[in-house]
Amino acid sequence: MSVIEIHAGQRQSQPGSQPGSQPGPRPLVSLRDVHLAFGATEVLKGIDVEVGQGQAVSIIGPSGSGKSTILRCITGLLRPQRGAIHVDGVAVHALAAEAQLIALRKQVGFVFQQYNLFPHLSVLENLVIAPVRVGGVPRARAIAHARELLAKVRMEHKERAYPGELSGGQQQRVAIARALAMRPKLILFDEVTSALDPEMVGEVLTVIRDLVEDGLTCLLVTHEMRFAEDVSDTVYFTEAGRIVEAGPPARLFGAPANPRTRAFLQRAAHPGRDEHASARQQRFSPVPLTALAY
Ligand SMILES: Nc1ncnc2c1ncn2[C@@H]1O[C@H](COP(=O)(O)OP(=O)(O)OP(=O)(O)O)[C@@H](O)[C@H]1O
Ligand SMILES: [Mg+2]
Repeated sequence: MSVIEIHAGQRQSQPGSQPGSQPGPRPLVSLRDVHLAFGATEVLKGIDVEVGQGQAVSIIGPSGSGKSTILRCITGLLRPQRGAIHVDGVAVHALAAEAQLIALRKQVGFVFQQYNLFPHLSVLENLVIAPVRVGGVPRARAIAHARELLAKVRMEHKERAYPGELSGGQQQRVAIARALAMRPKLILFDEVTSALDPEMVGEVLTVIRDLVEDGLTCLLVTHEMRFAEDVSDTVYFTEAGRIVEAGPPARLFGAPANPRTRAFLQRAAHPGRDEHASARQQRFSPVPLTALAY
């Protein structure tokens, strides 16, 4: 079974979730008023996020604004003090038993900045081990699926290589295939290109774009603004533990409503220029703010 078949139909809208509202995709992930503190430090201060089935949703925002914490809450790695998190109908915020958390994590793929492949296993074995040992999949079937996934991420020629023999971009593509090997319902990407040399960023983004086009439900934390604009159905901008603004990428990037979003997008477009300088420039700029290229 290919990735396309696994997720077949997910990009289609589903009929009428709310009477009288536009039919949208069925929500696969929803966070409602999520609050999380580490000791006295409030990190998430009322987060609302929704990801429809088959959608690609991006979270952008400054360092320390809570983006990774949101993803860790969705996988049940962190438990919020307040609010509700649902993944495909499962109340993640209420899961207590380890077995329930393991079941959740089988359904939610997570790819990090650091690829963390098993160094002593070949590329193929990296993909086969979890489906066989955790998922109980017969080995021959797991191998066949692993080969399909390696082809999908354009790494089929390296199935016998070890992670240490691969470039960063290649390792990251294998890490994505490894996450897919468990046939997750959705996949979370946390700045998966941040540790890569610039020439390898494109090859990883191309793989993610293919998955999005196949209809895999994706939630991406990224600093790649153009990519977020290109692939996302919805973009959320976070700052200091809050969602400051969310919307379709054309609106959020083309005409951000909130001054904080505008300032962030300007900084992202002109790294090194400080915020006050941007503000000074805006004040004297004849260009309307909404028309600023990011
Ligand atoms: N285990 C922890 N204990 C205490 N504070 C934490 C912990 N994990 C995260 N934080 C704090 O929570 C805040 C949000 O962190 P988070 O990693 O979610 O930010 P981020 O938006 O992903 O940032 P970046 O873009 O740098 O990855 C930060 O101030 C961070 O220091
Ligand atoms: Mg982070």
